[in-house]
Amino acid sequence: MTDLARLPDSDSTPAPQPDGPLATIGTQRLLPVIVLHDAADALPLVRALKRAGSTCAEVTFRTPAAAEAVRAIAQDSDITLGAGTVLTVDQVDLAVGAGAQYVVTPGFSPHVVRACQERGVPVVPGVATATELQMALDAGLELVKFFPAGTAGGAAHLKALSAPFPMVRFIPTGGISATNVVDYLAHPAVFAVGGSWMVSPALVAAQDFDEITRRTAEALSIIRSAGDRDPSETRSTR
Ligand code: 3PG
Repeated sequence: MTDLARLPDSDSTPAPQPDGPLATIGTQRLLPVIVLHDAADALPLVRALKRAGSTCAEVTFRTPAAAEAVRAIAQDSDITLGAGTVLTVDQVDLAVGAGAQYVVTPGFSPHVVRACQERGVPVVPGVATATELQMALDAGLELVKFFPAGTAGGAAHLKALSAPFPMVRFIPTGGISATNVVDYLAHPAVFAVGGSWMVSPALVAAQDFDEITRRTAEALSIIRSAGDRDPSETRSTR
């Protein structure tokens, strides 16, 4: 479970970071979100991600192939692997049994969050409102997914939503691409960005793993460049 200390008052003090698998996501600042219809595509896809230098991924439980895909990846790859779109306690058990190291949910489910906490599995619930964010805080969670980021108001909404909650870190996901990712990265409360644009189901269906590698490398390069910017420029967006 994520165990973040409260943020001190000063904006200049670095934010506390989670440990375990979530730390890998925070270091990379990019979480590729994978939808697989055929578990046979799992390993070629993860190898394509790794060729680009990616150290983490999320497989969504919105297809019947998800558990088998997680199992295949967990057995043959050292990539830090999570399960996304986890909606039920049964799916928590399925995902963790298959080898998922953390769980991501699109909304806030007290049942799913509690099940993860009882099993000692890090969980990142989705929020789009202050009410949902307070539910996450009540559950002891200070790292959340902001979803669906694009249609819930984008980076401007994230900025407004984060203002009363300086201790919270976000993984905005939904509608993010190479063209708008820097808008999110500019905000200091953004822990990482999630998205499928570099691993789209269309690319997987076309078996275009070279393009997946290219897009992932491009995304990581954009993120590194954003991180190289003047920190005072980043703080001013808050
Ligand atoms: C998710 O499941 O986290 C999102 O649907 C990913 O959103 P995207 O496909 O717009 O990147």
